[in-house]
Amino acid sequence: MARILVTRPVAEPALEMLRNAFGADAIDLYEEDAIIPREELLRRVAGKDGVFALLSEKVDAEFLEAAGPGLRIVANMAVGYDNITVPECSQRGVAVTNTPDVLTETTADLAWGLIIGASRRFAEAERFLRNGEWKEWSPTLLCGVDVYGKTLGILGMGRIGQAVARRATGFGMRVIYHNRSRLPEDTERALNAERVDLPTLLAESDILSVHCPLGDATHGILGAEAFKAMKPTAVLVNTSRGPVVDETALAEALLAKEIFAAGLDVFEREPSVHARLLECDNVVLLPHLGSATYATRQRMAETAAANLVAFFSGKRPPNCVNPEVLQGG
Ligand code: DGY
Repeated sequence: MARILVTRPVAEPALEMLRNAFGADAIDLYEEDAIIPREELLRRVAGKDGVFALLSEKVDAEFLEAAGPGLRIVANMAVGYDNITVPECSQRGVAVTNTPDVLTETTADLAWGLIIGASRRFAEAERFLRNGEWKEWSPTLLCGVDVYGKTLGILGMGRIGQAVARRATGFGMRVIYHNRSRLPEDTERALNAERVDLPTLLAESDILSVHCPLGDATHGILGAEAFKAMKPTAVLVNTSRGPVVDETALAEALLAKEIFAAGLDVFEREPSVHARLLECDNVVLLPHLGSATYATRQRMAETAAANLVAFFSGKRPPNCVNPEVLQGG
């Protein structure tokens, strides 16, 4: 029977799926609700056949070495898998799976929360009220920028980017996007979205929402030059991965009012947040909550568990990101 390491307690129905499929004794669950210390992770992964992993676990050569040649699959409980060195896994024949689809709408909701929250200065306004600074209604008090009727720019038009674009219809927005490949024409029509090059996206977006995966091509793609190219009234929202944005450059742009505001759910070196960003009033900061609803986190855990169960039942795991390692490719 396959032995599975689960690196942190996750939703009970997912753990139940694993116990039912593999037997309770085959599940090695790190019981603390905290990131498993690296040494403990390397110790416990030894001899395992499968791992249920989280974004906090770095799955690299050291990890794979510690696991030994028996490891066959790492099921990540996230859609992003930049914590995993996939080529290294593929080279050793280890399958990698993720959890797409189940978090799309939840993450798009949060992106919209940041779009409105940053444009209308929610965080700053709440601090103002809680600090007892609100003395009167005033025509100029904490004015923000409009969202309705503006141009929404989307960098990375995958599932989540498209879900964000769908919501823009209700806000009467023009939607432009930049993506490696163009969407099929009927999808573009349904989303009322137009593909543009990056300079056009930067110059014309009133709201720029980031949804591209982190990779060599997107690392630091939004830096000082990009912020200078944006409108001074523009709002940047990032719910993708922190390193897509150069945080030092963003903080300088926000402080210099080169752009109006930002809403960030992800950071370059989580959980630490750039000190200069913390100085900015015009940024809403969230601790990586894109998929954080009870229902979605349960669906993500069940999806990761389903990938492990399918794999060890001799079926194709539904969400394999390196299918070349599976029999039949
Ligand atoms: C993901 O799934 O990649 C998110 O960042 C966490 O939900």
